[in-house]
Amino acid sequence: MKITVVGAGAVGATCADNIARKELAEEVVLVDIKEGLAEGKALDMFQTAGILEFDTRITGSTNDYSKTAHSDVVVVTSGVPRKPGMTREELIGINAGIVKTVTENILKHSPNAIIIIISNPMDTMTYLAWKNSGIPKNRIIGMGGILDSARFKGYLAMELQCSPNDLHAVVIGGHGDTTMIPLIRHATLNGKPVTSMLSPEKQKQIVADTMVGGATLTKLIGTSAWYAPGAAGAILVESIVRDQKKVFPCCVYLEGEYGQKDICMGVPVVIGRNGWEKVLDYELNNDEKEMFAKSADAVRNMNEVLSTLDVNA
Ligand code: APR
Repeated sequence: MKITVVGAGAVGATCADNIARKELAEEVVLVDIKEGLAEGKALDMFQTAGILEFDTRITGSTNDYSKTAHSDVVVVTSGVPRKPGMTREELIGINAGIVKTVTENILKHSPNAIIIIISNPMDTMTYLAWKNSGIPKNRIIGMGGILDSARFKGYLAMELQCSPNDLHAVVIGGHGDTTMIPLIRHATLNGKPVTSMLSPEKQKQIVADTMVGGATLTKLIGTSAWYAPGAAGAILVESIVRDQKKVFPCCVYLEGEYGQKDICMGVPVVIGRNGWEKVLDYELNNDEKEMFAKSADAVRNMNEVLSTLDVNA
């Protein structure tokens, strides 16, 4: 198995590190446009192999995609991260050009790769990558919902004083501060609805905290987060390469599911060796359906910005 991570910045390097430690592939290739960065981080990371006892080779490349040839999975994290006060949406102009060029380069050398998009605004970047590449829809997956759900579980676990691993809690919809939908009605602690354990005010607060989870970190750190985004990218890769068939909320191209068409948005999907294999129907109530439709409107507005840029989407 060979996995490429494009963008050797904070998220890309963390993702590659997680992939290597989990030994998800024989080889991980890190690519970056900045001279020497990917090579340096790859070398540093590989030098942890003798300490952490993993056997994955990690190599770096400055924009030479021939080194990525025959990758099974490619994770795209290249782009500009958020600065405090900046929304994911404001990144669109810069990151669209980057994501377009990167996906073209990847597919030249790995025409059968499954592509994971992490670059923001992720829903629009996933849509752009799919439209622009013309590859089967199951091979383009946006990673946002796994991260948002992990943050949702984190806030729930802090409030309920429980393990986040005993929680089932899912965020669907867009991957934006105002477009994501933490499905609190569906969230359970070992099968028991969390709504039976939290006051309506607390529930509201946890949902609100989850929605601005990324912005909270950006404000604290001064740039957007990387530990959870990188780890979330790696568990998505794991379910693909190990064909685990895990159910994750991922951004995929919808053709009528959840009432939406011609859009990439977060819905629960089965992830296996073929990429995303099936969308699950979570039977939303009317309020949740309305939130999903509103979220879709916002994502669609963002996608329309693509037509004003020179990216052919
Ligand atoms: N090809 C390859 N790498 C590129 C390109 C390109 N065309 N353009 C930029 N990069 C690289 C940068 O050189 C940088 O090393 O992408 C890397 C991005 O890393 P960071 O600036 O550290 O950003 P990071 O925090 O990793 O976020 C990356 O993930 O979560 C999202 O919103 C975030 O879109 C952002 C992305």
